[in-house]
This record gives sequence, C-alpha cells and structure tokens, in this order.
Amino acid sequence: MSQLVVKGLLRLNGETKVQGSKNSVLPILASTILCGGESIIHNCPMLSDVKATVNILRYLGCKVEIFGNTVVCDSSGLSGNFIPDSLMREMRSSIIFLGALIARTNSAEMCFPGGCEIGLRPIDIHLKSLESLGVRIEDDHGLFRCSAEDGLYGAKIALSFPSVGATENIMICACSAEGTTVITNAAREPEICDLAEFLNKCGAEISGAGESTIVIEGSKKLHGAVHTVIPDRIAAATLLSCCAVSGGRITLTDVIPSHLGAVLSILEECGCDIDSYGGNIIMQSPPRLNAPKIVRTMPYPGFPTDTQPLIMSVSAKSRGTALFIENIFENRYQHINGLLRMGANIKVQDRTAVVQGVSYLHGAKVSATDLRGAASLVTAALGAEGNTFIDGVKYLDRGYENFESTLSSLGANIVRTQC
Ligand code: UD1
Repeated sequence: MSQLVVKGLLRLNGETKVQGSKNSVLPILASTILCGGESIIHNCPMLSDVKATVNILRYLGCKVEIFGNTVVCDSSGLSGNFIPDSLMREMRSSIIFLGALIARTNSAEMCFPGGCEIGLRPIDIHLKSLESLGVRIEDDHGLFRCSAEDGLYGAKIALSFPSVGATENIMICACSAEGTTVITNAAREPEICDLAEFLNKCGAEISGAGESTIVIEGSKKLHGAVHTVIPDRIAAATLLSCCAVSGGRITLTDVIPSHLGAVLSILEECGCDIDSYGGNIIMQSPPRLNAPKIVRTMPYPGFPTDTQPLIMSVSAKSRGTALFIENIFENRYQHINGLLRMGANIKVQDRTAVVQGVSYLHGAKVSATDLRGAASLVTAALGAEGNTFIDGVKYLDRGYENFESTLSSLGANIVRTQC
C-alpha cells in the first residue's frame, strides 16, 4: 500500500500549469459513444477515473488510444449495452454511460455506480428524468435494465435539485430523442458548458448550458469532433490552498479565473493577495491567515462542495473562527479526523463544522477516505511542523495528475513510499 510523506512548513513558490478538468473529461468521454465515429479529446488528465472510463469504452467495443494527454475514441464498433459491476463500481461517473448507451442503442444494463462515499448519492433524479424521455427501467435486484423500445421523445424535465450528473445524463440522452427537451433547474457548472460545447461540435443542438434552463433539440445524428477539455477548477483551488497554508507565492497558468470566483473570494477574505489576468492567477499568501467567517457549499456559482475540505485545512491554522455549512453531501467531513490528529480544533454537528484556528499544526499518521479529503490532508500537512504520513493515496489518484511532482516543483517536500 502506498502512503505520502509530507514534510511541512516549506514555502511554495513558482509557476505551474493546471491540469484538464476531471469532471469535464469523464462525461465527454462517455458521450463519444453517441458519435459513431472518431473523436479526439485533448487536455485529458491521466487519472485513475479517466483510465476507468477508457476501460468501459473498450469493454463496450470502442477503439480507444491514448497519446500523452490526448484520447482518441472511435465508437463506430460499439458492440454492447451492458457494463459489468466491476467496471461500474470504479467511479461515480459511470452512471453517465446510462444516458449515452440508451441514446445510441435504445437500451442499457448496469448496476449502481461506485465512487467516493461522501454521502448516500442516490440516482433517483437520473432515473426519473430518463423515464420522462421514454426509458423503461426495471430494477432487477440492483441491476438496472433500461430500454426505450418505442424510441426516445423530448420532454419538459424540472429537476428537484440541480444535479450535475443528472443534467449531463439528460443532455446526452436527449440528443437522440424526437423533439425538444427542456431542463429547468439545471446544474450550471462550467463542466456542463464544456459537455454542451463538445456535443454541439458533434452536431447536437443544445442551448442555455450554464443557465438554469437548457434546451436540447433532439433527433440529431452526431459525428466525431475534436475538443480540448477546460482547466480543472478544483485542482486549481487545491494548489491555491496548498500555497495559502505555506505562506508562499505561486502563479497558475492554463486556468479560467472566473470559474473560481467563490473560492478566490474566500481566499481573499483569508488575507491572500490575488491577481488574475487572462488564463493566469497569481497568489501571494500572508504569514498568518485570517479565518473566513462562513463557508457555505452551494451549487455553482456558489462555493463548491469539492473545495470545502481544502478551505477547512486553510482555516485550521488561521486567526479566528470559521463556520462551515455543507449543503450538498451529508458525509463530507471525513477529513476532520485527520485534521484533529494534526492538532486542529474543530467541532462538528450534522452539516455544520466550527473551526477554531490554531497557531500550530503538527505532523501525524492520518488516513484519507475520499478524493478531496485526501487533498485536504496534504494541504494541512504542508502547514504542519514535522512529517505527516497519509495513507489512502488511491483516492488522490482519482482526481490529480502528477500531484507530488507538481507540488515538489513548487518547493514542497512530498514523497510516495510503500508501507
Ligand atoms: C458532481 C461532481 C462532484 C461534485 C458534485 C457536486 C463529477 C464527476 N462529480 O457529482 O465532484 O462534488 O457534482 O458539485 O462531475 N442527488 C440526488 N439524486 C440524484 C442525483 C443527485 O439526490 O439522482 C443529490 C446528491 O446526493 C447530492 C446532490 O444531489 O446531495 C448533488 O449531487 P450531483 O450534483 O448529482 O453530484 P454528482 O454529479 O454525483
């Protein structure tokens, strides 16, 4: 089993490029199934979740080749509509194959998806929405048998919550439905816009992505396209948080600063000096951070739940008290155990955590149990005195490309060892 060993209290300094977005590339790769030809996707981060997606595409009969950060997928040979449990359980995003397979073959069979256990993560909104498009779903002891024998037809779908994954599934599936589909209360995340842009390049007709109402004109025959995935705003927020706790100064390139609005404003509240221009962010952090007052996770453009664990690590060593309210996932405070071991002062009740900043954190042996929780432990370790030993590194590998070498290039002391 691998572990990370982080020696803290070294100031980060320098410039680094931000990787392509994990949450964009996964639905884009799944949707190449609709194209029936070759798609070329640039700026794909090489992560375990991307490898899991490629394995599913190959299992289904697609020809997939990888050249550095470019994935070439030819879905003309698609030969199946069933995804085995072992592949489904690798990650949450495997559920996006449901909409994609139904759109291409009018049928799909798969079980419940896996992914980080940060909450119950039901898929009721996905299933109900696909039913509105004419899909019949039979739940056979956890195996979902889905078919649209009479074809798919456009519908008005009002989401009870702006679920990112459900919005993506509907957008993809509705491309093949007869007539117009209108999604209201849709998710507005940048990754939704990226998916719409890719599908439109393939011949789809999707408007309104990035707003609450998305309109998909269906019955389009899609073809392959060339697309470059947007930068990963969560990976960018991770590097900024690491810099913040270290009292350093870094420049991020290949980033879209407007995608990080809510995060940058919290980091500024903490006392960081931030300058963004074009595709760059320069951040200088102060010797001692101030606590942000309230951090409330919300759907985009609100403060992202994926960055809550990171900003909690930033707050752990700040001056003052920060109040966190996690509104998206009910079990997203698992990193707190590790932070407490490192000397943080945090009290949790239900979805609320009160972080009383301390002036000193120390190294400890800690365990990560989910992707962003793992990143938050690394963040805290960079601001802690001595060595921190972090296991559960496989979670980190789901979402970060070359994480240790990126941080090392900025001056961190972080190594992966076997334990
Ligand atoms: C996506 C992101 C994840 C991010 C999350 C919220 C990807 C691959 N993952 O996950 O990094 O943390 O958005 O921004 O893009 N819900 C239901 N029923 C459903 C679907 C969702 O109740 O059918 C609930 C969830 O339990 C959760 C909330 O809706 O409480 C948000 O989930 P959702 O937006 O669907 O997140 P994901 O698409 O899984």
